[in-house]
Amino acid sequence: MLDSKDLKGLVDLDRGLVSRSIYVDRDLYELELERVFARCWLFLAHESQIPNPGDFVSAYMGEDPVLVVRDSRGKINAFLNTCRHRGMRVCRADAGNAAAFTCTYHGWTYGNDGKLVGVPGYKEYYYEELDMEQWGLVPVAQVDSYKGLIFATFDPEAPLLIEYLGDMAFYLDVTFDRVEGGTELIGGVHKWIMPCNWKFAADNFAGDGYHVPITHISAMKTGFGGSGTDPRDFSKYFSVTTKWGHGFDVFWSSYSTYSAREDVVGQYARAADESIARRLGEARSHIRPGNGNVFPHLSLAVFGEGNRTIRVWHPRGPDKVETWSWVFQDKNAPQEVKDFTRLATERQQAGPASGFEQDDGENWGMCTESSKGVIARRYPMNYTLGLGREGKREEYPGSVALYPSEHNQRGLHGQWAKLMAADSWADVLR
Ligand code: FES
Ligand SMILES: [Fe+2]
Repeated sequence: MLDSKDLKGLVDLDRGLVSRSIYVDRDLYELELERVFARCWLFLAHESQIPNPGDFVSAYMGEDPVLVVRDSRGKINAFLNTCRHRGMRVCRADAGNAAAFTCTYHGWTYGNDGKLVGVPGYKEYYYEELDMEQWGLVPVAQVDSYKGLIFATFDPEAPLLIEYLGDMAFYLDVTFDRVEGGTELIGGVHKWIMPCNWKFAADNFAGDGYHVPITHISAMKTGFGGSGTDPRDFSKYFSVTTKWGHGFDVFWSSYSTYSAREDVVGQYARAADESIARRLGEARSHIRPGNGNVFPHLSLAVFGEGNRTIRVWHPRGPDKVETWSWVFQDKNAPQEVKDFTRLATERQQAGPASGFEQDDGENWGMCTESSKGVIARRYPMNYTLGLGREGKREEYPGSVALYPSEHNQRGLHGQWAKLMAADSWADVLR
């Protein structure tokens, strides 16, 4: 087991240096599962996936499979998806509706509230001595939602979700609460595995504006970068880091990409802009998201109506990540707009073959691979972009730096280091 002296110096925020070990070391990875993934609020699913009693979806928290289910009384619960008898996965489907889940190994049956309700041979073989109350599915300690996004934490001592999101909620609202009715996921989920550490993906989405004109130049030149009406003025963009390691890039503008179009998509974009101003006020009427990351691994990329995706980077070892990526749009948007968003996002960023996504995966895989060498690991990575130039910006909560910078990445790795060194949430909060 690693102790705190092994962790010292891995993340040096004062000098903007991060050890390559945090991306490749197996012991650090095992500790990370305990101290980051078994502790933080993790994104599970969107409420639109389970609107009715009995609806369920499978998910992961770290490497633990979980089952997210709306029980017959309408409450959303999450349970470890593993049978209490011999550990078989209780639910093998990705999604569906069920009053109960019967294990396919020996047939123990659990209600959609997690209670053990049926055991083959309960009378004949167990002589009614098995205490069924004690052998229900293992519940996840806390489950809560924010604007349709369902999160959970295994740690009963974690702060409430609303506290954990903190100032990040101010920025999330521009995406998830811009119009009446909220959002919904559209289409299915893309799942794919990349040979990289999950933090390369999370820190890129948290605020790596620096790579865009280089990495994605082909995608942009060939028209995979959006509508071509993006009114980019980098001097007005900024990156925000909030407490608990969340990061968000704010593309500050008075109007959104796509709002110049004359078709139904343009009309909708203009109506949504007006709605943001009305619902969320002047300061947020200028926020055009942007990419961001809710610590540790829920990332979003929202560029007008043509790119609206969220994803989680499920860790699968120090050098492997399983991405689950969804497209979303406002629930009350016209079908034509939803269709446009789905197709345009697929083209740009929703899946492994999308224009932008394939560029990124290539980089992260090679960053991971080349950091494994014993000599390479002696040389830290450089996270100094914008270091020492952070500040505040009136009306916008969080710590702000000009775009592009590595401010948000430093925020993410700082929170990671804090959690890794802490024995409990009480330590983190101290
Ligand atoms: S493992 Fe589930 S009933 Fe035996
Ligand atoms: Fe990228």
